[in-house]
Amino acid sequence: MMSPTRLAGMLIPAMAFLSCLRPESWEPCVQVVPNITYKCTELNLNKIPNNIPPSTKKLDLSFNPLRHLGNHSFSNFPELQELDLSRCEIETIENDTYQGLNHLSILILTGNPIQKFSTEVFSGLSSLQTLVAVETNLQSLEDLSIEYLKNLKVLNVAHNLIRSFKLPEYFSNMTNLEYLDLSNNEIKVIYHSDLQVLHQMPLLNLSLDLSLNPLSFIQPGAFNEIKLHELTLRSNFDSTDVMKTCIQGLAGLKIHHLVLGEFKNERNLESFDKYLLEGLCNVTIEKFRIAFFDEFSEDITDLSNCLANVSTISLVHLFLKRPRYLPKNLRWQRLEMVNCEFEEFPKWELDSLKEFVFTANKGVSTFTEMKLESLEFLDLSRNDLSFKGCCSYTDLGTTRLKHLDLSFNDIITMSSNFLGLEQLEYLDFQHSTLKQSSDFSVFLSLRNLRYLDISYTHTQVVFKGIFDGLVSLQVLKMAGNSFQNNFLPNIFKDLTNLTILDLSKCQLEGVSQTAFGSLPKLQLINMSHNNLLSLDTLPYEPLPSLQILDCSFNRIVASTEQVRQHFPSNLVSLNLTRNDFACVCEHQNFLQWVKDHRKLLVKVEEMVCTKPLDMQDMPLLSFRNATCQRSKTIITVSVFTVLMVSLVAVLVYKFYFHLMLLAGCKKYSRGESTYDAFVIYSSQDEDWVRNELVKNLEEGVPPFQLCLHYRDFIPGVAIAANIIQEGFHKSRKVIVVVSRHFIQSRWCIFEYEIAQTWQFLSSRAGIIFIVLQKVEKSLLRQQVELYRLLSRNTYLEWEDSVLGRHIFWRRLRKALLDGKPWSPEETADAENNHEMVTSAW
Ligand SMILES: *[C@@H]1O[C@H](CO)[C@@H](O)[C@H](O)[C@H]1NC(C)=O
Ligand SMILES: *[C@@H]1O[C@H](CO)[C@@H](O)[C@H](O)[C@H]1NC(C)=O
Ligand SMILES: *[C@@H]1O[C@H](CO)[C@@H](O)[C@H](O)[C@H]1NC(C)=O
Ligand SMILES: *[C@@H]1O[C@H](CO)[C@@H](O)[C@H](O)[C@H]1NC(C)=O
Ligand SMILES: *[C@@H]1O[C@H](CO)[C@@H](O)[C@H](O)[C@H]1NC(C)=O
Ligand SMILES: *[C@@H]1O[C@H](CO)[C@@H](O)[C@H](O)[C@H]1NC(C)=O
Ligand SMILES: *[C@@H]1O[C@H](CO)[C@@H](O)[C@H](O)[C@H]1NC(C)=O
Ligand SMILES: *[C@@H]1O[C@H](CO)[C@@H](O)[C@H](O)[C@H]1NC(C)=O
Ligand SMILES: *[C@@H]1O[C@H](CO)[C@@H](O)[C@H](O)[C@H]1NC(C)=O
Ligand SMILES: *[C@@H]1O[C@H](CO)[C@@H](O)[C@H](O)[C@H]1NC(C)=O
Ligand SMILES: *[C@@H]1O[C@H](CO)[C@@H](O)[C@H](O)[C@H]1NC(C)=O
Repeated sequence: MMSPTRLAGMLIPAMAFLSCLRPESWEPCVQVVPNITYKCTELNLNKIPNNIPPSTKKLDLSFNPLRHLGNHSFSNFPELQELDLSRCEIETIENDTYQGLNHLSILILTGNPIQKFSTEVFSGLSSLQTLVAVETNLQSLEDLSIEYLKNLKVLNVAHNLIRSFKLPEYFSNMTNLEYLDLSNNEIKVIYHSDLQVLHQMPLLNLSLDLSLNPLSFIQPGAFNEIKLHELTLRSNFDSTDVMKTCIQGLAGLKIHHLVLGEFKNERNLESFDKYLLEGLCNVTIEKFRIAFFDEFSEDITDLSNCLANVSTISLVHLFLKRPRYLPKNLRWQRLEMVNCEFEEFPKWELDSLKEFVFTANKGVSTFTEMKLESLEFLDLSRNDLSFKGCCSYTDLGTTRLKHLDLSFNDIITMSSNFLGLEQLEYLDFQHSTLKQSSDFSVFLSLRNLRYLDISYTHTQVVFKGIFDGLVSLQVLKMAGNSFQNNFLPNIFKDLTNLTILDLSKCQLEGVSQTAFGSLPKLQLINMSHNNLLSLDTLPYEPLPSLQILDCSFNRIVASTEQVRQHFPSNLVSLNLTRNDFACVCEHQNFLQWVKDHRKLLVKVEEMVCTKPLDMQDMPLLSFRNATCQRSKTIITVSVFTVLMVSLVAVLVYKFYFHLMLLAGCKKYSRGESTYDAFVIYSSQDEDWVRNELVKNLEEGVPPFQLCLHYRDFIPGVAIAANIIQEGFHKSRKVIVVVSRHFIQSRWCIFEYEIAQTWQFLSSRAGIIFIVLQKVEKSLLRQQVELYRLLSRNTYLEWEDSVLGRHIFWRRLRKALLDGKPWSPEETADAENNHEMVTSAW
């Protein structure tokens, strides 16, 4: 056991060592883009970290207590383009802090309690385009020494303590300034002299935001003859009177875009007065926008008095209720109504209007006919409108329409095929419910349509002519719909100019081989989120231009090589993530193909196996070929082994006795034989064997010892074993008693066959045939072997006559004596002269 003090003695130096290592090895800043972008926000840094590469272009140091920025603080980062110093408790910035940052284009100083900007603090920032000094305790624009920033485009000094709108002299040299944000300051009055600089040297394109300043007075003529790009005055006035006089103060201004109104959570005015905007008659306005007035005039006509010559007008978040009559002579070209409240669909006739955006409005539920003769662009999306009959010239009152957006509405019933709307180029129905769209060729007359979106419109495509007539169509989006039998038929036959086709989330299981036959320009097919089982489902041959194919989120298992050969040669992106790949050897060609085409496949490392179970969720790339080779070998070897074993088994089964004989031969080879002969006979002939054979041979002189199964076999031992061990092995010769019974007995024939093997194996010339009775040739022929033997060899024929018997026994004895060791007492009655009876059948 180690004592605690010793342990501490070891641990403390180790920890000290580690803590010494930390500043170098531990990277406090997040490397967003290596060598380029570093994020060091909220790390409690009190000096600029020194382990950031000098090549850094974007550095975020926000929310660190840096407090003080000294001489050449950033000289280590000569490449810096963006520097964020938000909320770093910075109070002082020295003269040469930013020296050397010749490429800095964005500097953010938001939320620092800066006491004083030194006069040369921004010197050196020759490329600075955006300076954000929001919430920096700035009291006056004069305090900000930005005269060196010749390239400045955006100056944001919102949320400060600036009381005077007086633009300092140096503004006249900042010819690039485009945007000045002075919102949320303390400017109350604007005098003619404040804008002296603009009068002297007009900045032609300045946008000015003065929102949230408590304006009470604008000197009339202050803006006279001044041109601005944009002026925003929101939540500036605490009464309608003030607003009215201030707006009159704008007289003479020429402005591209004027924004009036309030903020959602900064409302001061109680009601909108009809005469509020009278002053605008003396202002030249191109675009006008008004936002967030609760009690807006019921009569939109009020707007028209001084805004008749405006080209674009947008009304956002207003309570309009019943928009009544609008004078026909308005010159409005674009009207936007967003997030307003209506009680009924506006019914205007505006000859000048070319674009009408009416979206996300509440309170209207049914579309009613419009009459806007010049209308080219109509956006009626997100209103929850329902359309009883769509769409034709009579509904919209225009024949010039090019862009029609009816997306995110309620039910749209397709009752006419765009009669009089042949100019349409863009048509969007997504997320509205289309009725009867698959009943006839709805789009037949839209020969100019380039873009069609019917995604998620609850359309079930049944009718194959649904897209007939769309000869110019380039983009077709129909995600989230369905097809009859989940099968994609050839419904695209007219769409020869199609380049983008989105069929995702359509529950597709099959695709007709002719489906893409007429789409030679198709570049993108999105088949994601369908139920395709194979990559081979799609016909690739007719798609020479295909570049992007998205088949992610299907149930694809693999693909075959024949099909992959026809993959379009222009294909650059194939998304097959989230499928049901089978990482089995059967598909090893496909898996190898995946490895070889990493560049083509999107997020190839995220493609995972779902089968087999032990590979589940493993990357496809981790599949190893080698396992296949091994298992192939294993299979081959095991099949071979099984075959061999079965063959051996069959052979053993068949030649069991022969094998036993063989084993026995070794054991008993040339040993002393107990018997002179083993007799094989049919049990039917047993009488003859007992009465004739045994009597004559065993009791004669010399006596022969016969092996007879009824007598000599050892009880309890299998017959077969007895035959072999007792019969064959212990006998010198075998006597085969051939009779009709013998030939008919399978067992006898079997015994005889073994005898032959025995004869062959032990190389003893030992089988003696006794033909007991004439056997018909035909019967004998059934035993081909026996027949052959009998016809080729000599045999003894039993004859039941005195002479016949005598000869028989003499010959038999002679045959048995052959090879028998002589005993002296035995008489030599052997005769050399033996008669042979040759086969005579
Ligand atoms: C980052 O810069 C270092 C040194 O200049 C260089 O060795 C390294 O390769 C760069 N890393 C990258 C991703 O560019
Ligand atoms: C700023 O640093 C430069 C060299 O880095 C030095 O020459 C100069 O005197 C310093 N200025 C001040 C005011 O510390
Ligand atoms: C900053 O520079 C100006 C002009 O060069 C000089 O008058 C002023 O003293 C300097 N301020 C500091 C803190 O060095
Ligand atoms: C404007 O720039 C000119 C020349 O670059 C210079 O002479 C003049 O003093 C500058 N005016 C102001 C107010 O900085
Ligand atoms: C004026 O500035 C705006 C951005 O504030 C820009 O979009 C517009 O193109 C500019 N116009 C001209 C004529 O420079
Ligand atoms: C427009 O300006 C003229 C003088 O410039 C003034 O007489 C007239 O009252 C102004 N009109 C409005 C509606 O403010
Ligand atoms: C609109 O323009 C016409 C002709 O250019 C002019 O007569 C009319 O006074 C203008 N209306 C307003 C409100 O500026
Ligand atoms: C298909 O597009 C080409 C150019 O992109 C155009 O020339 C051709 O007229 C279009 N075909 C049809 C039938 O609109
Ligand atoms: C295909 O559609 C799915 C969803 O419908 C979308 O997430 C995916 O980005 C689309 N793929 C391409 C290549 O546009
Ligand atoms: C498939 O990959 C493409 C290319 O990166 C991507 O645009 C698309 O969104 C992906 N599809 C899905 C369903 O995420
Ligand atoms: C894997 O198998 C493929 C085809 O069966 C073959 O082309 C490739 O060379 C093999 N790769 C390895 C690493 O054995």
